[in-house]
Amino acid sequence: MQAIYDTIGKRYSTYRRPDPHIARAIHAELGEAASIVNLGAGVGSYEPEGRRLVAVEPSRMMISQRPRTDSLVVQARAESVPFRDGAFDVAMALLSLHHWSDIEKGLREARRVARQKIILLTWIGFCEDFWLLDYLPQIRTIDEPLFPSIEEMAEILGPLRVIPVPIPHDCTDGFLCAYWRRPRAYLDEGVRTAISTFARVPDYEDGLRSLKKDLESGEWERCYSHLFDSESMDFGYRLVVTTEPGP
Ligand SMILES: C[S@@+](CC[C@H](N)C(=O)[O-])C[C@H]1O[C@@H](n2cnc3c(N)ncnc32)[C@H](O)[C@@H]1O
Repeated sequence: MQAIYDTIGKRYSTYRRPDPHIARAIHAELGEAASIVNLGAGVGSYEPEGRRLVAVEPSRMMISQRPRTDSLVVQARAESVPFRDGAFDVAMALLSLHHWSDIEKGLREARRVARQKIILLTWIGFCEDFWLLDYLPQIRTIDEPLFPSIEEMAEILGPLRVIPVPIPHDCTDGFLCAYWRRPRAYLDEGVRTAISTFARVPDYEDGLRSLKKDLESGEWERCYSHLFDSESMDFGYRLVVTTEPGP
């Protein structure tokens, strides 16, 4: 099966650089873990150095953009990973779950191979208004159903700690909400190709034309200039961490 990121991931490492604030939050959760499996590892964002790290990634395009490190890369999907039970201290999956064809199976695999902890970076939906929805309302119905709820994850993984991940105004990891204070970015095709939502959402050209018009006329600033008072905002991104070790 062709991995979707073989097509949309061509310029991932240019537009999706790990953000230092988000990295700090992830690394705090990783603590001293000596062995880590990174499910849906992409180009290696947020992987800590100096640990035994195995990256699991189905897309050749993404694997080809990984910097040369001493980590081992396995071309595979989270739903079936070729490791023995309890092979790692920690399993992590960062902004990857919503691409899995069977999330439950993938999470059970994470539980099986992680001795201590599972760390997920995921999204619980638009908990604060995101102005881009005023231009592209179709994003809501396309994206929200792809992500599991906290309750669904807890049913599979057991008790969870949920940590809000505020998005800084200059976020360097260009996912959907990263440019909340930089509206012109959404007009850039390169930015959009690094955001999987734009590969799924139909007919976004009209909405982007309206955005461009409002930016040129000053209407966007009139409506949303209050955003410039904030340094970071909560758009529903969450670190979800298991609180009990695996079986
Ligand atoms: C948005 S990228 C995130 C990559 C990386 N974790 C990061 O934070 O930059 C999603 C990744 O999940 C991968 N992916 C898609 N389906 C997958 C699956 N079934 N199992 C594991 N990874 C998958 C994609 O190929 C892609 O590299």
